[in-house]
Amino acid sequence: MSFKLAVVGATGNVGREMLSILAERGVPADDVTAVASERSAGGEVSYGEDDVLKVEDLERFDFEGIDIGLFSPGAKVSAIHAPRAAKAGCVVIDNTSHFRMDPDVPLVVPEVNPGAIAQYEKRGIIANPNCSTIQMVVALKPLHDLARIKRVVVATYQSVSGAGREAMDELFNQTRGIYVNDPITKEVFTKQIAFNCIPHIDVFMEDGSTKEEWKMAVETRKILDPDIAVHATCVRVPVFIGHAEAVNVEFERPISVEEARAALKAAPGVSVIDHRVDEGYVTPQESAGEDPVFVSRIRRDPTVKHGLGMWVVADNLRKGAALNAVQIADILMRDYLEDRSGGSDVGQRRRTG
Ligand SMILES: NC(=O)c1ccc[n+]([C@@H]2O[C@H](COP(=O)([O-])OP(=O)(O)OC[C@H]3O[C@@H](n4cnc5c(N)ncnc54)[C@H](OP(=O)(O)O)[C@@H]3O)[C@@H](O)[C@H]2O)c1
Repeated sequence: MSFKLAVVGATGNVGREMLSILAERGVPADDVTAVASERSAGGEVSYGEDDVLKVEDLERFDFEGIDIGLFSPGAKVSAIHAPRAAKAGCVVIDNTSHFRMDPDVPLVVPEVNPGAIAQYEKRGIIANPNCSTIQMVVALKPLHDLARIKRVVVATYQSVSGAGREAMDELFNQTRGIYVNDPITKEVFTKQIAFNCIPHIDVFMEDGSTKEEWKMAVETRKILDPDIAVHATCVRVPVFIGHAEAVNVEFERPISVEEARAALKAAPGVSVIDHRVDEGYVTPQESAGEDPVFVSRIRRDPTVKHGLGMWVVADNLRKGAALNAVQIADILMRDYLEDRSGGSDVGQRRRTG
């Protein structure tokens, strides 16, 4: 017997990346079920280089016997089916925004608050944070431990893959259309995304901020520290994969650039690439397909008493979504669900590292 996993939303950007990461980690195809809507039911998705999985219809899928459900079918669908899966004994790790601020659902980034996973028992659901929040808190955590963060001002440069497959198609088609003089069609984004930047992600809130900006503030407080103030401006840019963030941090205590760089270098999940020369920094295009959160351009901000600026880049589909969820699943299998494994291959492999 082994751990049984279901990837729900398996045909989407995040779901496909989850399947690819599970296959990379050597999880046998027999232990993974691909689930999506009735539109793709009966079709196939790739599982690693050699295998394919048949897609099951979520509406008809029985979660009995599934240990962990890695969900990314959209917020409205998770709202209905994640509790149904949890009721059947499947621990859900949900990528959508639906459960993130539920006080009975832990919101987890393994490098920052792995201990929160223990609270999964309350509802049988663990939430994966927003992609922009994940990469920011991974970089903030070692600095917060060093000098206590008071306030963060961040501007994001978010790739279109963060808005799903159709958004990637829209960037491709508009870019092509402009070169061949075809009319531009807008379906996913409110304005032309090709050769443009759009300061509008998710819906507008009453105070003039967008919901994406609100998510970065409230999620950072839930994961890292309820006292940190965050002011975000979230911008969609014509990049396929990889989010970048210009992050300005104000601390309670003095912190030098050297101390910050050393702490970031020692931090799990962070790669510091910061040479003050041409090519001495990481761009979103270079982060695609990579696991770490890259930190570059670390420098003092002399306009506040204890301030630093930095440039934070990560693959939004990997660390920003699928990888973070799989890391949570790893911890669940290793530390919380061992009794279910019955000495499985997957469980044994994970226990021995
Ligand atoms: N992309 C990111 O960077 C990112 C990061 C963090 C969180 N998220 C969140 O993850 C979710 C999915 O994002 P994505 O980028 O993977 O979107 P996507 O590429 O549009 O894929 C959506 C997936 O959900 C499935 N789906 C849609 N309606 C369904 C239904 N009624 N029942 C079952 N499955 C259904 C689709 O299946 P079909 O192919 O059958 O339609 C597809 O597999 C969203 O809530 C998003 O906010 C995304």
